[in-house]
Amino acid sequence: MKNRRRIAILTGGGDCPGINAVIRAVAKKAILEANMQIFGIEDGYHGLIENRYRKLTYDDVSGILTAGGTILGTSKIANPYRYAIKVGKKLEFKDVSKTAIANLRKLRINCFVCIGGDGTLGIANDLYHDGIPVVAVPKTIDNDIKGTDITFGFDSAVTVATEGIDRIHTTAQSHHRVMIVEVMGHKAGWIALHSGIAGGGDIILIPEIHYDINSIAQTVKQRNKKGRRFSIVVIAEGAKPKGGDIVIRRIVKESSDPIRLGGVGFILGEQIEKATGITTRTVVMGHLQRGGSPTAFDRVLATSLGTKAVEMIMKGKFGHMVGVNGRRLDEVPLEKVAGRTKTIPLNHPLIHAARSVGTSFGDKHNL
Ligand code: F6P
Repeated sequence: MKNRRRIAILTGGGDCPGINAVIRAVAKKAILEANMQIFGIEDGYHGLIENRYRKLTYDDVSGILTAGGTILGTSKIANPYRYAIKVGKKLEFKDVSKTAIANLRKLRINCFVCIGGDGTLGIANDLYHDGIPVVAVPKTIDNDIKGTDITFGFDSAVTVATEGIDRIHTTAQSHHRVMIVEVMGHKAGWIALHSGIAGGGDIILIPEIHYDINSIAQTVKQRNKKGRRFSIVVIAEGAKPKGGDIVIRRIVKESSDPIRLGGVGFILGEQIEKATGITTRTVVMGHLQRGGSPTAFDRVLATSLGTKAVEMIMKGKFGHMVGVNGRRLDEVPLEKVAGRTKTIPLNHPLIHAARSVGTSFGDKHNL
């Protein structure tokens, strides 16, 4: 019993459906197949810096498969290499990575399992280079992590956004309105593209294709002329007009990635109403997309990724992330992931498919 291997699990960045399913998969397999001891770091890198953790037993991770959020808590701000400290009214940034590393060493862990998005995984890569054995699991509703075709949480977010679009459809039809649904995704348009196609959006606006308000207005007017007296616009929060800028909702100074997007749908709504004379309303799906229980797809994906992570721990494949490559699970060097964003390639088959069924991307007139 003395030499039981020990792992610490941390969840960082924005939460999403399926994190608990990964924690459960990692902990159950590590306990059942390797008799490891599991520690959960609380509140992301905050907990690591402040040495806050708790033991996780088999019972602790039973019954959490379907639960949304993360039982460990998370932080979108704490970064041990650039930790924000308030000095009077001013913010100062300090490198407290030595404290974080010392806390992990005190725990005598054999592996640090990091479940996170691009920011969290970038920090995990730095910790790996500072001597911590790391295995990572990619997590985000945005699906924008390099080195993996898909992230858990994405399908759940797309499902919520699609349900929103479906509901908007009926009220748009009744009132002969233009309805805009703004979805998350940060600087990538994956959620907008998938939910836009699934929900039958007439116009899909993504950060990867800059839109032209005249083209959008023309599409809406043409639909009206043909008797389709409503239009559904699905817009990614990171979409921007040709020659224009993204809309920033707020700046979170203490965060390493301080820009929070949101609100472009309202600006576009006013422009469409002015250009077409048709009543336009905007709905922001917001954090609804991050909340609640994961879809069946995400539960399966999270379980596969979590168990694969333990296989990697057992064979000492550190400094790597579990990635999805087609139908296979891959071991992707963190180096290839850190500091990068996976946006939608302009030749993506789904963009072609959407255009083929008459969907506009706001760049040219399609009908
Ligand atoms: O990365 C996940 C995400 O939900 C993005 O889609 C969105 O831009 C951002 O986080 C929202 O951040 P916050 O929770 O800080 O408002």
